[in-house]
Amino acid sequence: MLIQLKHIDKIYKAGQVDVPALIDINLQVERGEFVAIIGQSGSGKTTLLDIVGCLSRPTSGEYWLDGDHVNSLPDASLTGIRNRKIGFIFQTFHLLARKTALENVQLPLMYAGVSRKAQQDKARELLTRVGLQDRLLHYSNQLSGGQQQRVAIARALANSPPLLLADEPTGNLDSQSGKDILALFEQLHHQGQTIVMITHDPLIAERAERRITLSDGRIVADEPAYQAAPVLG
Ligand SMILES: Nc1ncnc2c1ncn2[C@@H]1O[C@H](COP(=O)(O)OP(=O)(O)O)[C@@H](O)[C@H]1O
Ligand SMILES: [Mg+2]
Repeated sequence: MLIQLKHIDKIYKAGQVDVPALIDINLQVERGEFVAIIGQSGSGKTTLLDIVGCLSRPTSGEYWLDGDHVNSLPDASLTGIRNRKIGFIFQTFHLLARKTALENVQLPLMYAGVSRKAQQDKARELLTRVGLQDRLLHYSNQLSGGQQQRVAIARALANSPPLLLADEPTGNLDSQSGKDILALFEQLHHQGQTIVMITHDPLIAERAERRITLSDGRIVADEPAYQAAPVLG
């Protein structure tokens, strides 16, 4: 089991007011699963992904990630876990604009202490895997949205994390680029990658093999998604 959440609550404080964003979340995700999280705006999707990604801590409840009991670990250990175990993909890509595609993908490898030559080789290999072998030296602001998201996916894969987390990865893309990115996620899934992806697009959620619905901070459905035919380019 890769992810296990037990009785997770998250309560934000907004001034004097308590905002319960997650209420009694119980969730298990096995290695190799492709899970979509859906729900209306404000239902708690990002809060849940942030907890799973060790970017924030639950108010109460227990969380195990890949065997580690996250609750008991100090912040410094969580940073290490994030770097080694999780690749993040965001709606707005979060690339460094004045760096090339290659440099953006090299960055997490540099932080991991990989030699410069090995960084470049690995970054080139990953960018080829996402179909950007002819854009290695483009600055990220010279790339289309879909291409920028491919760079972000290559970067997320740099340290071969067991878990990919994506928050609305197609939310800023035109529909064709969104389909292409989704096809890329499906390809990674078929290669064994565990993926948890937030989306508000029901058509995209259908592509995952499991669909979890949040409403007002609670899981109200957890079901196998309808398996449509593969997305064609
Ligand atoms: N930092 C915060 N402080 C206070 N309330 C927050 C904070 N972040 C989110 N919330 C509230 O928690 C609820 C869930 O938000 P969020 O997880 O962002 O939902 P979603 O991603 O599904 O749109 C919302 O009511 C939101 O207003
Ligand atoms: Mg959100």
